[in-house]
Order: sequence, then C-alpha cells, then structure tokens
Amino acid sequence: MSLRINDIAPNFKAKTTHGEIDFHNWIGDSYAILFSHPKDFTPVCTTELGYMAKIEEEFTKRNTKLIGLSIDPVENHSGWAKDIEETQGHPVKYPMIGDTDLAVAKLYNMLPAGEVASDGRTAATNATVRSVFIVGPDKKIKLTMTYPMTTGRNFNEILRALDSIQLTAKHKVATPVNWNHGEDVIIAGSVSDEDAKTMFPEGWKAPKPYLRIVKHPK
Ligand code: BEZ
Repeated sequence: MSLRINDIAPNFKAKTTHGEIDFHNWIGDSYAILFSHPKDFTPVCTTELGYMAKIEEEFTKRNTKLIGLSIDPVENHSGWAKDIEETQGHPVKYPMIGDTDLAVAKLYNMLPAGEVASDGRTAATNATVRSVFIVGPDKKIKLTMTYPMTTGRNFNEILRALDSIQLTAKHKVATPVNWNHGEDVIIAGSVSDEDAKTMFPEGWKAPKPYLRIVKHPK
C-alpha cells in the first residue's frame, strides 16, 4: 500500500555517503526531504542534485535536512559528486543513500510499476523514479510527489510547499494557489468568525464567507 500524508515515514537503516544512518535518528528535531533519483552518472539527475546542492542553504534556514537516494552504491555516489560539482558549480554536501538492495526503494514505493513485481530483477536492472517525501520532526509524511524518470523536478516548488507546511503547522491558516512566503493567506475553515476575531485582530477580507483572506502571520 502506498504511503499517505500523515503516515509515519517508515524508519530504516542505510548506507550513505556520510556513513550508516538510522533515518529517524538522523532527522532528529528537523524536517527532512528524502528524494530519489533513477541512476548515478545520468544527465537529468546531475542537474537535479546540483540544484539541490545550490539551494541547500535555503533548506538549512528552514531547519530542514536533505537526503538523496538511488540504488547505486555509495562509492558511485561519491565519484559522481565530483562530476556534479564540476558541471553544476556546487558541491553536494548532503548525504546520498546507496540503496543497493532496494530496501528503502521498496519501503517507500519508489520503483515504477512492473519493475518491483518481477522476480529475478537485480539492483542493476531497477531504477527508482523521482520521488520526494517531506517528513516532519514528528516523523510524519507531510508531502509526497512522484515524477517520471525523464522529467526533472522543480525543487523551488518543494521549498515553496515546505514554507506552506511550516506556516500552517504554526498558524490556523491555509495557503492559496501559487502562494509564496510573505503573501496573503486564508483563515482555516475550522476557525469560527468569533475565534478569528481574536486570532486576527486586524481583520480580514471575505469576498465569500468561506474565503477569508488575511496578511501573512508574523
Ligand atoms: C537522467 O537522469 O537523465 C535519466 C535517468 C534515468 C532515465 C532517464 C533519464
């Protein structure tokens, strides 16, 4: 069964470029982004991992750790990291899991249909799709996303969604379409107008009773 938002992210131990980790211990009190890519030394993956290296600082500012995964061994990841820095201009400092026995890929449904079901396939003939999991400090899954192998992801969207997830964890609001940090938000439907008066004393705009727009909470 596939993992759903609010499920506990399954724990695992794995070899990474930073040594062996226990996933939950490694997350600690942070948020985490676990993202898989199909294969080392491939072009789209090279651009994706290079971009994550470039914007890692933005995740760090948001108390969020990054961890990549593919079914290739950690030795390959380390060799490939040199190419990523050379071609993308940013060193990969976050750990990369070498999931050679497909244990994590299976646990998180990161293998495409058809490949996981066929017995006798080896790690060399399997490749993970482009999955993303945002996991909270409570170890619950906050967001999942899956892209096909041939489509590079927009990691700015993951950062944008993380901002929304962290804001809505603190305040009783939701974020509208294409929202970005700092922009107006929507008062959660669970909040009565009576309670909203206390929570948002500066008031709100309500083009409809169910659409109550307020400034970004401080
Ligand atoms: C790539 O990263 O370029 C890639 C990897 C696997 C399949 C297709 C593209």
